[in-house]
Amino acid sequence: MISPTLSHKVHPPKMNLPRAETENALGTKSILGTEVLSAQQIKTILNCAYFFKETSKKGVEFPATLRNKTVILLFFEPSTRTRSSFELAAKRLGANTLVLTKETSSVEKGETLLDTARTIEAMKPDVLVLRHPSGGSPNHLDQIIKVPVVNAGDGFHEHPTQALLDLMTIREFKGRLEGLNVLIVGDIAHSRVARSDIYALKKMGARISVCGPPTLLPPKAENMGVNVFLDLEKAVQDQDVVMVLRIQLERLNVAQIPSQGEYSRFYGMSSRVLGLCKHDVLIMHPGPVNRGVELSPEVADGKHSVILDQVANGVLVRMSVLHLLTGGAPLVPEGITL
Ligand code: CP
Repeated sequence: MISPTLSHKVHPPKMNLPRAETENALGTKSILGTEVLSAQQIKTILNCAYFFKETSKKGVEFPATLRNKTVILLFFEPSTRTRSSFELAAKRLGANTLVLTKETSSVEKGETLLDTARTIEAMKPDVLVLRHPSGGSPNHLDQIIKVPVVNAGDGFHEHPTQALLDLMTIREFKGRLEGLNVLIVGDIAHSRVARSDIYALKKMGARISVCGPPTLLPPKAENMGVNVFLDLEKAVQDQDVVMVLRIQLERLNVAQIPSQGEYSRFYGMSSRVLGLCKHDVLIMHPGPVNRGVELSPEVADGKHSVILDQVANGVLVRMSVLHLLTGGAPLVPEGITL
């Protein structure tokens, strides 16, 4: 099993890497969603992330492929994992970073997203990372500004780097993606994580099932090419991976779930439900966890849980995305490849 440690030595050896021969080895200006990424683009991103993981484990300094570049993070919704891992990723590759939030920018005075983005663009950043409550806002910016845009989560739409770090983690622990059975549990209808994971995992050959109360499933969920379950105890059997989603208490109303206790009784991942799963099932959660609602503390902290591995891989995937979008060469690790 691969350790997620990202330790740094004080005076590590330096590594110089070539630039990509074309403008950008991924062949896309921006990362807007996994729906529009090909299987090859996903492989290129994940291989590069594994390369950075190997680099870290060898104690070699990360290549400063973003030296003299600027990454601007526009976060108009709260975030712990995504925001901090993008900032760390950029800094580990030598970039300057600037974080703007809704509360600390002129958005609070009524400036539009477009005017904000154009203002930021005039300062010549190299990448713009955007989290925004409105689905489609990164796509809109991408059409208007020349700078690469990375979607860090837009409304109910997509969260592509979360899906990429999920795939990285599954591949690491299960040795493959193709042919795996993956169950996603919870609020499928309002989850950008579920949407991005479904698109990406299907492209890599995994079989996807979803489970949740009917009020939290999209209409005609089968049309997404997934198996649909209403009964968690039936759904978990034969699954290699169970991804538990956060119940988004800030977005739901009582018509969707009667109470947190009721939800937990029927759809919470508890030790009892874990006992119905395969002996080597992986339990995943994008965070933040509502402990005792969708996931019991024993399961969240138990030996099947890879939640903190997901967090650690998030930094590496975001390093990979920033490296590739700014013209870095595609990197292939010696160990794991896709
Ligand atoms: N998984 C995720 O997007 O977490 P944050 O909201 O903390 O970034």
